[in-house]
Amino acid sequence: MIRIYKEDNYEQMSQRAADLILAQILLKPDCVLGLATGSTPIGLYEKLVEYYNNNRVDFSQVRTVNLDEYKGLDPNHPQSYHYFMNQNLFSKVNIDENNINLPNGMEEDSMKACAEYDVVIENLGGIDIQLLGIGHNGHIAFNEPAEYFTKGTNCVALTKSTIEANSRFFASPDEVPKYAYTMGIASIMKAKRILLVVNSKEKADIMKEAFLGNITPKVPASILQTHPDVIIVGDSEALRDFE
Ligand code: GLP
Repeated sequence: MIRIYKEDNYEQMSQRAADLILAQILLKPDCVLGLATGSTPIGLYEKLVEYYNNNRVDFSQVRTVNLDEYKGLDPNHPQSYHYFMNQNLFSKVNIDENNINLPNGMEEDSMKACAEYDVVIENLGGIDIQLLGIGHNGHIAFNEPAEYFTKGTNCVALTKSTIEANSRFFASPDEVPKYAYTMGIASIMKAKRILLVVNSKEKADIMKEAFLGNITPKVPASILQTHPDVIIVGDSEALRDFE
């Protein structure tokens, strides 16, 4: 089932999404949050930090598991997803660092890195709410369009369009890592609830394709149509084709 919150702008989208995460933490203080990177969730992380500063939420028991990490970037690299999460959330709230989980981008052995992360996900005992963004080609986490839906954590060769899109954070496209470790689609689908955030008119076409079109691994996000509990929070531009 898909519920849609169509908000007027990015600010309100971020507010709504942060409220849903706040509600999750209030209901279950030791919940497992599946977290995402990208520019879309930055505003909602800001709101969560604001809630923390106003004593409205306590992260001390919260456990987190992130979707993905570039292969080859160490946690202190400014473009690594470890760094992103520290900058935008972890260093600003009272989360216990032992409760934070991301794939190990520095593990060169891909099979090992992926197997280890699957164990991490398994040991958490289920993701209560998984935050997602969506790529321009319909990718979720780093699961790129493919012939089949991925299962567990996998090492992906990033597509040209993803490298180009993400090059805005690097000095040049050549510096964007070519590979990433990502949680698989089946693992994402096991989350009890999915919270997808999306903004801007550039995402309107892919949103239509993913949620009003056919379910196909060529548009990885389309599988979410079969998930029992999806909440989409977007601005009116991205959700142009939705009621
Ligand atoms: C990256 C991330 C995804 C994210 C996507 C969209 O490739 N791996 O998790 O959803 O980009 O990013 P943005 O929100 O910046 O458009």
